[in-house]
Amino acid sequence: MSFPRDFLWGAATSAYQIEGAVAREGRGASVWDHFCTRPGAVHRGESGAEACDHYARHADDVALMKEIGLQAYRFSIAWPRVLPEGTGAVNAAGLGFYDRLVDELLKAGVQPWVTLFHWDYPLALYRRGGWLNADSPKWFADYTRVVVEKLSDRVAHWITLNEPQCFIGLGHETGVHAPGDTLPLHQSLRAAHHALLAHGESIKVIRAHAKRPPKAGWAPTGDIPLPMTESAADVSAAREMYWAVTKPDVWNHAWWLLPVLEGRYPEEGLRLYGAAAPTFTAEEMATIAQPLDFLGLNIYNGFRCRRGANGRPERVAYGVGHPQTHNGWNVSPPALRWGPRFAHERSGLSIVITENGMAGHDWVADDGAVHDAHRIDYLRKYLRQLRWAVADGVPVQAYFAWSLMDNFEWAEGYRYRFGLVHVDYATQRRTLKDSARWYGEVIRTKGAVLGEFAGVAGRGMKKARRRRRAGREKEKDEENEGA
Ligand code: FCB
Repeated sequence: MSFPRDFLWGAATSAYQIEGAVAREGRGASVWDHFCTRPGAVHRGESGAEACDHYARHADDVALMKEIGLQAYRFSIAWPRVLPEGTGAVNAAGLGFYDRLVDELLKAGVQPWVTLFHWDYPLALYRRGGWLNADSPKWFADYTRVVVEKLSDRVAHWITLNEPQCFIGLGHETGVHAPGDTLPLHQSLRAAHHALLAHGESIKVIRAHAKRPPKAGWAPTGDIPLPMTESAADVSAAREMYWAVTKPDVWNHAWWLLPVLEGRYPEEGLRLYGAAAPTFTAEEMATIAQPLDFLGLNIYNGFRCRRGANGRPERVAYGVGHPQTHNGWNVSPPALRWGPRFAHERSGLSIVITENGMAGHDWVADDGAVHDAHRIDYLRKYLRQLRWAVADGVPVQAYFAWSLMDNFEWAEGYRYRFGLVHVDYATQRRTLKDSARWYGEVIRTKGAVLGEFAGVAGRGMKKARRRRRAGREKEKDEENEGA
């Protein structure tokens, strides 16, 4: 069992994490520029002001992608580089940067995948209320149009929002990311509702204005419940946990996925959030539920669970000494099997892994190389599980390693290195890590270097899918009857 023949292998980055040049050629400020000046907000007071200086070095960086053998590159557009005030006047130089980048990628044979929003919200719009402002979906739609008109003759793949859980949850609820707000739940959920609407409006604009047939999706995230065994009881317990809303915050899958996939908020969330839940109209929910061409998933972490003695799903803690990455995330490869599977069986959509990777203690050794054996092992383990999802019958189209190169890891500054390419920030020197060369081999051999497939392919998934579909129809009927 292997990956599909046309499977696409790529790597991902985001604008604020690599570009630098925050004041160059007319770029406006983003909430991240501002947040980084706040004392104590970011590790050692660092910022993305210089980052990897990718703005100046993009041609070299594309050459590195070619050297690795990447087939696709997911990057994000800095909204305030294109529209310094967030709306209105376009900064031609800023847009021109992405225009050239796309040309360079195509020349190198690397397919461009554009993320429209990866957290660097225009500061000017934040000062007008940001995601809390009811006009914010329109602002995002207008911005989408500017980018789509410029790039869609060459770009086919579009991702609207990156990890809404994070920019609302970390940015507006707990305040550890920009803009650093700690809003009460009802306001976070209002901001979340506007972000969902922005996604829907953006998809509409992409479909209406793209010059070549677009493929559009988005890239939510979240921890994946991993069944302790293959038993139907444990698998269904994990599935229930995947779709559950159990805490009064935005850290779940269902609150974000169900509006987009099915045009409704989860009942459990509405009950739990109570009066804090946003008001919404049927028309808004229809806007949010635009048809997608693929579902992007950023997957790093999973937690173990099983069907408890009382019949309810329960978490099972990892044992003492369970392997963790440099930033303390549990190594949990089956997340790449079960995450795509749970998301696909309910949505019927093709899956794209829009991010996956790890932070490691990487440095340049005396021999001039970066020996990141842990990353090779991590990627191999996760990719074998992704292949298992494929064997289970999940249509997985593409995989993007996070990240192409070491970069600014948000509130953690530069202390965590996620790259396939090492960056010496003092000199901006790039060094391909061992994992970059190994990943190149994965690509060239279409996954064969991952070794033989040892799993037992997906009993029960088709059945599960039919069951879910039937359940959904029934729910819809009931809703209609109730209406
Ligand atoms: C994800 C973000 C990405 C990067 C990785 C490590 O949550 O989308 O920008 O920070 O984590």
